[in-house]
Amino acid sequence: MSCEQLLQEIRLNGTVPRHVAVIMDGNGRWARERGQPREFGHRAGMQAVRQAVEAAGDAGVEVLTLYAFSQENWGRPATEISALMGLLELYVRRERRDLKEKGIEVHCIGELDRLGPRTRAAIQSIVDHTRGGARMRLNLAISYGARQEIVLAARKLAERVAAGTLLPGEIDEELFSQQLYTPRDPDPDLLIRTSGEQRISNFMLWQLAYTELYVTPVLWPDFGREHFFRALLDYQRRERRFGRVLAS
Ligand code: IPE
Ligand code: IPE
Ligand code: MG
Repeated sequence: MSCEQLLQEIRLNGTVPRHVAVIMDGNGRWARERGQPREFGHRAGMQAVRQAVEAAGDAGVEVLTLYAFSQENWGRPATEISALMGLLELYVRRERRDLKEKGIEVHCIGELDRLGPRTRAAIQSIVDHTRGGARMRLNLAISYGARQEIVLAARKLAERVAAGTLLPGEIDEELFSQQLYTPRDPDPDLLIRTSGEQRISNFMLWQLAYTELYVTPVLWPDFGREHFFRALLDYQRRERRFGRVLAS
């Protein structure tokens, strides 16, 4: 089946996930298979980002969240980190205009203060440039850690309690969610992880409570439009129960 036929089938099925989150993993292995340095895989991974964004937009996904760099990834060698940051800046330069034209609003989530000034400026420019895009929101998770996100949320509420503007009893799931990095987004319906690893790696721990998981052995640089559509089709075959029983 061609990509366009897959897309047709997705549309006929009707239930497109509103929010898709992706752990883009396997760049290093992709490079190693080719006898190349890890950076080579990251560069190839950037092309896959382009394809995923386009495929998500075409399918009618409202929010796409891509895990690009974790808090734990700061523990990698400095050369790899600087290559990744350089690629991020390159991505911004290359894609900014196109994303704006496509109506894609970019939002960055994570501890951005840890980034260098050049990377921060690049992020600010893509966010400013694409603001107001109504077709899809693209969340780039950079220097992101879910535990840190949750701690920050708790701290914000604690500060309000300490200031006397909030009672502990007023804290509920809704208010807590509103303090996270994604207050405007529905929780992800589908999480895709490439390269076969069956773990969450500190990604959106709160938001993934009832997300459908899709793990594929395909390495991120090889994950193209067709793979994205196949993941959506797989999602459409799932029965989401949210702990309840469905009337038969
Ligand atoms: C994912 O690929 C990209 C980032 C984590 C930044 P990896 O670099 O983790 O690739 P593998 O897992 O070593 O193959
Ligand atoms: C998760 O991948 C982080 C990103 C994709 C940005 P990692 O490769 O860092 O995760 P682990 O180490 O396999 O759990
Ligand atoms: Mg990895």
